[in-house]
Amino acid sequence: MCGIVGYVGHRQALDVVMGGLRRLEYRGYDSTGVGLVDGDRIAWAKKAGKLANLDAVLEGNALPASTTGIGHTRWATHGAPTDANAHPHLDAADRVAVVHNGIIENFMVLRAELEAAGYEFLSETDTEVVVHLLHRELQQQDDLSEAVRAVCRRLEGAFTLVFADALNPGVVVGARRNSPLVVGRGEGENFLGSDVAAFIDYTAEAIELGQDQVVTITADAIDVTDFHGNPAETTAYTVDWDVTAAEKGGYEWFMTKEIEEQPKAVADTLLGRLDQDGHLQLDEMRLTDDELREIDKIIVIACGTASYAGLVAKYAIEHWTRIPCEVELASEFRYRDPIIDRSTLVVAISQSGETMDTLMAIRYARQQRARVLSICNTNGSTIPRESDAVIYTHAGPEVAVASTKGFLSQVVACYLLGLYLAQAKGVKYGDEISSIIDELHQVPAGIQRMIDEGDQVRKLAAELVDRRSFLFLGRHVGFPVALEGALKLKELAYVHAEGFAAGELKHGPIALVEKGLPMFVVVPPRARDQLQEKILSNIQEVRARGAYTIVLVEDGDDSVVPFADVVIRLPKVPTLLQPLVATVPLQIFACELAELLGHDVDQPRNLAKSVTVE
Ligand code: G6P
Repeated sequence: MCGIVGYVGHRQALDVVMGGLRRLEYRGYDSTGVGLVDGDRIAWAKKAGKLANLDAVLEGNALPASTTGIGHTRWATHGAPTDANAHPHLDAADRVAVVHNGIIENFMVLRAELEAAGYEFLSETDTEVVVHLLHRELQQQDDLSEAVRAVCRRLEGAFTLVFADALNPGVVVGARRNSPLVVGRGEGENFLGSDVAAFIDYTAEAIELGQDQVVTITADAIDVTDFHGNPAETTAYTVDWDVTAAEKGGYEWFMTKEIEEQPKAVADTLLGRLDQDGHLQLDEMRLTDDELREIDKIIVIACGTASYAGLVAKYAIEHWTRIPCEVELASEFRYRDPIIDRSTLVVAISQSGETMDTLMAIRYARQQRARVLSICNTNGSTIPRESDAVIYTHAGPEVAVASTKGFLSQVVACYLLGLYLAQAKGVKYGDEISSIIDELHQVPAGIQRMIDEGDQVRKLAAELVDRRSFLFLGRHVGFPVALEGALKLKELAYVHAEGFAAGELKHGPIALVEKGLPMFVVVPPRARDQLQEKILSNIQEVRARGAYTIVLVEDGDDSVVPFADVVIRLPKVPTLLQPLVATVPLQIFACELAELLGHDVDQPRNLAKSVTVE
């Protein structure tokens, strides 16, 4: 998500910065820009679209020679991917320039403060507040690093920021909180980058920055402090990748990278959703509370993995809002003559925002006068543009065809919607909503644990590599997890895999069970006594018929152990949040099996990331 490069040294900064941005393309982006120190102002160029568009701008309008520069590839979050929203952002006199990755949570408050002080805003981004804050700070003092520290102390959220100032030539300053920034150490030149790919062509010597640190680079020095100016500890290391691995940030597959990004994807999707009074606020919820109070039916429409996120959400939305919620495949929706009217809320879930089946379904829903809200990961894409309201997931670009972080962040966004509706309808008290939000904030740590414990699942994949059939069972929210586990395996490993509601077992699927058949079973938390007990019986039923049972169960629940061939432990979480942790080992299993079978994990046969045909 967003690529950042900063350079000071003896080379032409434009070449270094553009080269770095090309190396960071793998992160995904939808607009680009560069800024160079040129006398008493910053010379800059920025453009929506791919780097080739910026190349064309630079060809027509060459920037001056300079040895100090910054650059950015932007993945739109606040504001569509337009020229005006592209980075760098500058003050009115083009003296200072900033590029940013992350989300400034308190930008609305800061923007109001700056507008009141006479600052004019040219973009819809959260980033622009930062440059105006810096401009104001530089009226008080000349030292750029000191001014950056003062600005950082005012910011909430996650950010990597990199600044250039025409009146502090030969200096680039960076800052980070909950968002990546590394330093590259060269000979008579130094670099900043979102990751080492940004400067791998020039140096393998890197310095990792810690949380809440500010780094100042010149051609010959690197100085790191905390946000208050105290000297800070850093860790130096030598990068051992080759340049080809740089395209995926050192990972073998985009999917491995995206699975590992899930704690951050979930955390970012939750960022900035509460206002100062602790009320939920959703940026692009263009529907008023009065309109939301009129909603008497919700229909979730989506395709593939996104539809399973919808199935998970149904349990939470109905439970929290008491509004009936149906989930329907987008490709089926409009052909069945659904009963919808002005009081129906159609929720379209789409990572790409371009899936044609989903797009056609929302167009139909709007013709029928339903209100349409989309949950989408791609700012400026068609589905959110054609919706009445949007909740953006902030998962960052998803490149692997099969969705992973897209799914978890969609579940989180659906939960935010459920809570928002409950707030608007007044069916949940504020403290009940905040306690669920608090529980959601704990989830990234649980996801991280599942990633850290991934070797158990990878070994299991090696053991089962020759199996051609797998079944997945779940109950309640574990049922869509079973469906998603099976879909991942079909997509990636091309083996027969099916997910069932455990209660349906006896109505047919049990006939498939034979000796050695691997069956994944997602056990609900014990807090839901009946569910847990019922699935325990299901495990015994299949075990008695020879199934090889792989049981996903929360810490401390040993009741299943006698009937499990393999136990995969899950952190204790409330029942409704369990899909967010239980899906992770199933993703890792599918990814590993595909890799062992020699398949292309990122681009499985016959599949496409953005399916723009019906
Ligand atoms: C394709 C992808 C799936 C994805 C589905 C919906 O089939 O291969 O991974 O779940 O489209 O995509 P969307 O972008 O609408 O979420």
